[in-house]
Amino acid sequence: MNIEQLRADTPGVEQLIHFNNAGAALMPDPVIEVMTRHLQLEARIGGYEAAGQQSVEVENVYEDIGRLINARPEEIAVIENATRAWDMAFYSLPLRPGDVVLTSTTEYAGNYIPYLQLKQQRGIEIRVIPNDEQGQVSLPALRDMLGDDRVALVSLPVIATNGGPVQPIEQIGALARAAGVLFLLDACQGVGQMPIDVQKIGCHMLAATSRKYLRGPRGMGFLYVEKTLCENLEPAFLDLHAASLLTPDTFKIRGDARRFENWECNVAAKLGMGAAARYALAQGIEPMWQRIQRLSAHLRNRLADVPGVTPQDMGAIKSGIVTFTCQNAGAAHVKDWLAGQEKRINVTTSTFRSTMLDMQQRDLLEVSRASLHAYNTEAEIDAMVNALLRMPRS
Ligand SMILES: Cc1ncc(COP(=O)(O)O)c(C=O)c1O
Repeated sequence: MNIEQLRADTPGVEQLIHFNNAGAALMPDPVIEVMTRHLQLEARIGGYEAAGQQSVEVENVYEDIGRLINARPEEIAVIENATRAWDMAFYSLPLRPGDVVLTSTTEYAGNYIPYLQLKQQRGIEIRVIPNDEQGQVSLPALRDMLGDDRVALVSLPVIATNGGPVQPIEQIGALARAAGVLFLLDACQGVGQMPIDVQKIGCHMLAATSRKYLRGPRGMGFLYVEKTLCENLEPAFLDLHAASLLTPDTFKIRGDARRFENWECNVAAKLGMGAAARYALAQGIEPMWQRIQRLSAHLRNRLADVPGVTPQDMGAIKSGIVTFTCQNAGAAHVKDWLAGQEKRINVTTSTFRSTMLDMQQRDLLEVSRASLHAYNTEAEIDAMVNALLRMPRS
């Protein structure tokens, strides 16, 4: 990888050390340029007219996202964030009383709350797949749980918001397929960070966001729904883009995944997400993933040398999201201390409210989170570790 070019494309790295890529990564120039150009076009000729003039580029976004995850353009819906994309898939499933949803301890609260809502409203059951000794989903346990024919859905994140293991999603997908059970994958922290290939994974639905490891703009995301499934899923919400009126009494839902979209959308951000996908593909997802893993292993090793600091990630394969706790220093203090360095260092805090099952199981209330991307460097990591060595504690 050409790291110098990667950094030259990323204006933010001049100002700061950005280790909050799991929150929102720094956008590279090609993304900023596409969006700025479109906003200027909107200002000059009008929003609808600008979208019309850019209709080919807008269509290409579906191709670009499709290439990123090895899906067909008609299997992609562009939706304003990962949560809403995930919701559109989840709430369209015909789950009935007694149906079982299998999830992981690493599930994100934004997804877990909808399970609870459907538990209250429809009487579905939530079962949590236990972890193996390394901390990821136990595949033998999943195989056993799939033996119950009330299981209607496997749904979990590939990488949790608070780090931890990279789940064995290809094996999970194969087990779900073999059992004839739908698999909804939350790839919010995976897309842009690691290879995500829906054919290899065998997931039926996948939700992701633009602003995190993909390095696109905020307020943008997408949903993948496998073509054969799509036609059988009726979205919980419809509008005049997702469906059309045929007569005053009848309507028809469109056939492709855009049935999960709504009409109004931030076109500049949509184009920006397409540019981010092209940018990621041009860098090469596999080399970026290798580099992210190398950098994060370096950070975990160095953190282990800081007195009172405990790296907290589990799993046979770990991601670029590095979490740790600090004796006599809360996560907010760590964040503020690092932000106050001469060259600002952005890390964040992750609390039990986002990933309650996992945090409760590990008896943690909060962790500090430093999430690394391929444009970060070992020198930046060393600067953070040195700042932690100097950090006053109570
Ligand atoms: C694992 C996971 N899933 C879903 C989301 C929600 O993404 P969005 O904020 O784009 O809706 C997040 C955000 O942090 C996440 O980490």
